[in-house]
Amino acid sequence: MDKFVIRGGNPLVGTVSVSGAKNSALPCMAAAILTEDEVTLENIPHVRDIETERRLLTSMGAEVELRHPAGSFSSAGPEDRTTISCRTLSDPVARYEIVKTMRATSLVLGPLVARAGVARVAMPGGCAIGARPIDLHIKGLEKMGATITQEHGYIEARADRLRGAHFVFDRIIVTGTEDLLMAAVLAEGETLLENCAREPEVADLASLLTAMGAQIEGAGTATIRVEGVSSLHGARYRINPDRIEAGTLLIAGAITGGDLIVSNCNSAHLGALLEKLREAGVRVEVLGPAAVRVRAAQRLGAADISTEEYPGFPTDMQAQYMALATQAEGVSLVRENIFENRFMHVQELARMGANIKIEGNTATVRGPASLSAAAVMCSDLRASASLVLAALVADGETIIDRVYHMDRGYEHIEEKLRGVGAQIQRLGNLFAPREAEAVTSAE
Ligand code: EPU
Repeated sequence: MDKFVIRGGNPLVGTVSVSGAKNSALPCMAAAILTEDEVTLENIPHVRDIETERRLLTSMGAEVELRHPAGSFSSAGPEDRTTISCRTLSDPVARYEIVKTMRATSLVLGPLVARAGVARVAMPGGCAIGARPIDLHIKGLEKMGATITQEHGYIEARADRLRGAHFVFDRIIVTGTEDLLMAAVLAEGETLLENCAREPEVADLASLLTAMGAQIEGAGTATIRVEGVSSLHGARYRINPDRIEAGTLLIAGAITGGDLIVSNCNSAHLGALLEKLREAGVRVEVLGPAAVRVRAAQRLGAADISTEEYPGFPTDMQAQYMALATQAEGVSLVRENIFENRFMHVQELARMGANIKIEGNTATVRGPASLSAAAVMCSDLRASASLVLAALVADGETIIDRVYHMDRGYEHIEEKLRGVGAQIQRLGNLFAPREAEAVTSAE
């Protein structure tokens, strides 16, 4: 399995560019199921989760052309693009072998039943960062007239044609909102979804669906209204920049005391993070709609965070922020409200010398800690990013194992960091079993 070797101590200086958003690209690829025509998505990040979604769609009979086939995740290529044709969906099944490697595959449930009248999707089961059921996806589809059965670890949903419905989410969930939105666009009549996720990725998906002929109002707000249509057509759509990658790079600039411009981002999506960075003393300058500059703090100070649904502080930035908090003077409280088990980076950060105590859903970080290099291991995607950030300021050479977790959601991260002055190398192990097969948990 690949490893990163990182020698800490270099301030990151220069400009680094953000790739397309993985968490927009995944639902947008699933949306291609809704039409017989071709859907082309631009700015697709070259990350492992996209490859997994390609495998999933192909296993159902779709034709998926991806500019970056499986293989090297360590060399930058030309602009990424995928063209998907779901003219034939010979096998509307999401098999366990694929679902177990990526939980977001449950996103195909809504579009499959809407288009094919039947969907069989393996239950995702537990994953590294928490239990993560899909009960609300199921409740919503039932409300729209689907008959749901569960057998042999699979959920089967059937409906000749879904009916528009009024559904209020018990809690705010992201892929659940996306799944039901995709189901509603082909349902008969009007659907009203309330207490929806307001994440930019939901709005991104809605923009693609609208380009395909769907009638949607309110995506990006808590209330979404959809007037179902009988069919959708193909479209070409450009995926928005990845706000979590942008945030991770901004913290890389801040933690190393550098002077970094993060370009090709959407600064409007970074509000909660930028506010916290400022509170911690980082000099943050929004250079326009697509670029943010961070410069070294005179002194990094403690600032508490509490993860919330968008527009609150993202759970997907919690681990990276914690790495920064280890370098801040004072006590920072980090409260995780979205997932019940998202502190796995803590024990690895502690191995590098961080002073962090966990009680319930709150981590107390005492800083500044002088971090020293150690051998550490990634447990999930954002935990990996946290370890890379800590290694960038640690004394000595940190070896980070299991970077396949990082490769799920960060495109060419070592090249991007090296380009602005980090000392980071990837070590591949040719004799290891195929990494994709070794991944069993899913974010
Ligand atoms: N939940 C339920 N019932 C459901 C669905 C979810 O109780 O039917 C619970 C989950 O157990 C969890 C919480 O609700 O505790 C939030 O789950 P949500 O469904 O919102 O998360 P998700 O859709 O599975 C997406 C992102 C995650 C991100 C979360 C929260 C994608 C593909 N994934 O997951 O991204 O952390 O929203 O913002 O969009 C990542 O990129 O590292 C990642 C994990």
